[in-house]
Amino acid sequence: MEGDFEELNARSVRNIINKGGTFLKSARSMEFKTIEGRKKAYEQLTKNNIDALVVIGGDGTFTGGVYFSQEFDLPIVGIPATIDNDISGTDFTLGYDTALNTVVDAIDKIRDTASSHNRLFFIEVMGRDAGDIALNSGIGAGAEEILIPEEEEGVERMLESLRKSKMSGKLSSIIVVAEGEKSGKNIFQLAEYVEEHLEGYDIRVSVLGHIQRGGRPSCFDRVLASKLGVGAVEALLDGDSKVMIGLSHQKVVRVPLTVAINGEAKYDKELRRVADITSV
Ligand code: F6P
Repeated sequence: MEGDFEELNARSVRNIINKGGTFLKSARSMEFKTIEGRKKAYEQLTKNNIDALVVIGGDGTFTGGVYFSQEFDLPIVGIPATIDNDISGTDFTLGYDTALNTVVDAIDKIRDTASSHNRLFFIEVMGRDAGDIALNSGIGAGAEEILIPEEEEGVERMLESLRKSKMSGKLSSIIVVAEGEKSGKNIFQLAEYVEEHLEGYDIRVSVLGHIQRGGRPSCFDRVLASKLGVGAVEALLDGDSKVMIGLSHQKVVRVPLTVAINGEAKYDKELRRVADITSV
């Protein structure tokens, strides 16, 4: 929008395969949400002979892309990148696997205190609207209970499960809570609620925060990014537009951008069943 262009070539991306974040510094733009802002962007693109766009991001990015592609004649292809994994039409989004590994590593470390001192830990992970990080890291790190935005009855189920585990002789426990969990209580209030309703727990709260969005990308994410990048350029060369390049059953697929943002949520009930069975 500001006309601040810099031409990149293969060497421009040297030594970034192992880096977190984005060296492009692309981020949310309030101005792009207005038609004037998008018009300004289009004018800059044509002035600089840009003949296609590859937009990389999540729901907000793709929504902007859909508006842009309806208003202006410029091919657009999307690559799903968000730690939340909340995009339809792809099994994985970029950054999600790295975030999961970071979360599991952090919980493993917290577990040392939990088990050494017989404590109950509440650990908040990211996920404003989606519980994928919480559910998967919760299973991977052996959590006692997992609270996610897709489920309503989480708090009562958690109390029940803590009661049972206390009776079975469990001395320490880990509860993973997605930040968008729907009880209406923040994680500190949740901890207080448990303190009021169950006796004998030494409770601590840990909010993992933005460590989940940084760090060296996992090998899975690097390979996925490479596959989706190749897929995006190939789609444009084929004359395709308004599609997201995703991964479905190990295959690179092209999915309409509108499906990516409006499709069904990916909440995996089978994973919840596995979590319930394995957390006894
Ligand atoms: O949208 C991805 C996400 O990581 C959410 O899970 C989280 O709530 C949010 O971004 C954090 O955004 P910000 O860095 O702007 O606080």
